[in-house]
Amino acid sequence: SQNIYILGIESSCDDTAAAILHNGKILSNIVATQEVHKQYGGVVPELASRAHQQNIVPVIHQALASANIGKKDVSAIAFTRGPGLMGSLLVGTSFAKSLSLGLEIPLIEVNHMQAHILAHFIEEDGFKKPEFPFLALTISGGHTQIVKVSNYFDMEVIGETTDDAVGEAFDKSAKILGLPYPGGPLIDKYAQEGNPEAFPFPNPKVPDLNFSFSGFKTSVLYFVQKQTKENPDFVTENLKDICASIQFSIVKILMDKLKKAVKRTGINQIAIAGGVSANSGIRNALMEAEKKYGWNCFIPKFEYTTDNAAMIAIAGHYKYLEKDFSDFSITAQARYKF
Ligand code: KG4
Ligand code: ZN
Repeated sequence: SQNIYILGIESSCDDTAAAILHNGKILSNIVATQEVHKQYGGVVPELASRAHQQNIVPVIHQALASANIGKKDVSAIAFTRGPGLMGSLLVGTSFAKSLSLGLEIPLIEVNHMQAHILAHFIEEDGFKKPEFPFLALTISGGHTQIVKVSNYFDMEVIGETTDDAVGEAFDKSAKILGLPYPGGPLIDKYAQEGNPEAFPFPNPKVPDLNFSFSGFKTSVLYFVQKQTKENPDFVTENLKDICASIQFSIVKILMDKLKKAVKRTGINQIAIAGGVSANSGIRNALMEAEKKYGWNCFIPKFEYTTDNAAMIAIAGHYKYLEKDFSDFSITAQARYKF
């Protein structure tokens, strides 16, 4: 049998990551998270580009070392072409091209959002893979989509946000509560001990399978402003209940659209992907839906939810099998639709 070693490189936002896959199995998965953005309450693009440039070589050396292979063993290089921040993407794209040129091995471009979905196909003991066709709910800091996945690279977006992404709804709500960036995981943490029905937040009316989250953060803002006027300590006194209510309301918005999508497509295999798929509320809601509606749900391992290069490498692996290689004139795409 063939020995395929794919080096995956991810640099679309604020994580510099490299991973080695051997025949679809992880040998290493390294992520350097950029701490520099924390003090600014969000990702600063200029600083992200510079940090990528600083981190990319060490991260790749580390990925090779912990996979216990040399760079001459690598069969092909897969990199994130987009979507993402242009400056960040340029670092990974240029580096991937140079390494591919130097090693004389194929270059493979990968769409970051497709990769989030394809993370479900990383060979992993004890994890079942979805069968085509399935629906993917991709929920991250930059995206919120329902995707009909007919094959590895045959994907159709059947619903998406018209404004903010769901991760932004988490992060901006957290900011209003005075929590540090990125606040999504913190809301999740406090939510576990709070009452989800303490403070209801509205479920916006959005047509079809689309989402809107810009009104959500506004309703959190108005709610908090109104309550703090009456009681300046409202947030600290009710933090767990507020977080639980925010999470409950966001999860309900997502689940309502998923139910609609299942009805429309007749597909009841659901995979979640992207940073927000680490959220315990959405994970629990899907496990409940398996029992309640007979859905078949696929929940990724935590390390494959937020940005990582293993997902880029698995996408690269499937393109490698098809000999779907890129040429050196390829450019990064900040907005990259599929
Ligand atoms: O996929 P990702 O790492 O980067 C993007 O491509 O955006 O997603 C990051 C997003 C952030 O908004 C972060 O707050 C959110 O995922 N996130 C969570 C949780 N873990 C990460 N949101 C809610 N609950 C979590 N446990
Ligand atoms: Zn992502």
